[in-house]
Amino acid sequence: MYDNLPVRFAGVRQNAVLLAQKFLGEILHAGCVAVDATAGNGHDTLFLAGLVGESGKVYAFDVQRAALDNTYRRLREAGLAGRVVLINDGHERMDRYLPGPVDGFMFNLGYLPGGDHSRLTRPETTLQALELAAGMLKPGGRISVVVYTGHRGAGEESRAVEEMASSLDPGTYGVLKVVFANRSALAPFLILVEKVGREDENLAPEENTGNNKRAGDRYPGGTG
Ligand SMILES: C[S@@+](CC[C@H](N)C(=O)[O-])C[C@H]1O[C@@H](n2cnc3c(N)ncnc32)[C@H](O)[C@@H]1O
Repeated sequence: MYDNLPVRFAGVRQNAVLLAQKFLGEILHAGCVAVDATAGNGHDTLFLAGLVGESGKVYAFDVQRAALDNTYRRLREAGLAGRVVLINDGHERMDRYLPGPVDGFMFNLGYLPGGDHSRLTRPETTLQALELAAGMLKPGGRISVVVYTGHRGAGEESRAVEEMASSLDPGTYGVLKVVFANRSALAPFLILVEKVGREDENLAPEENTGNNKRAGDRYPGGTG
């Protein structure tokens, strides 16, 4: 995935987001279903809407009305509002709104820049949403999580996300943690998840089986 990176690594925050977009951009195409779990100002929602085409759909969640207003404005200006369902509810309830399995999820945690900093993502609801996402992911589907560590409460959330990601069954999910190794310990990091695809069934058994525990044991619908 790191061939021909379209970004440079010198900026921290912005490039974590662009790397996440690159990760999702590799698998999403016209007709796909994608979720922006934290719509915020709509940058990721717009990016996803561009990828899924006329025949695809993006579901974008945010608990702040102002965030969804900003997202809607951005989509309308680009002429892509028709591809997106905006949902003013927490991502921890996203299973109530999604019609079926999903190709890609983007999470960009923390608070809305320029918005209400008290409405930030929280460990408990973030974990609920990530578990739902892992369970609803199609074979070959991907999840990106941009995790911030600098604001109050971020340490607890980042540890919870890492723990959840590292507990995912390696026979069903590939999981990467991407850190900026020469930056402050407070720099954001990325968690990248990919669910094995049907073509991965041809892998050598030792590469394919992990610990042989199926994700469906933990996440309903996780076996795809
Ligand atoms: C860092 S911002 C997202 C930035 C956004 N991806 C963009 O492109 O501008 C995080 C967003 O998560 C939202 N948020 C906080 N808790 C949430 C929850 N439980 N469900 C959905 N969104 C939530 C905040 O309101 C905030 O807008």
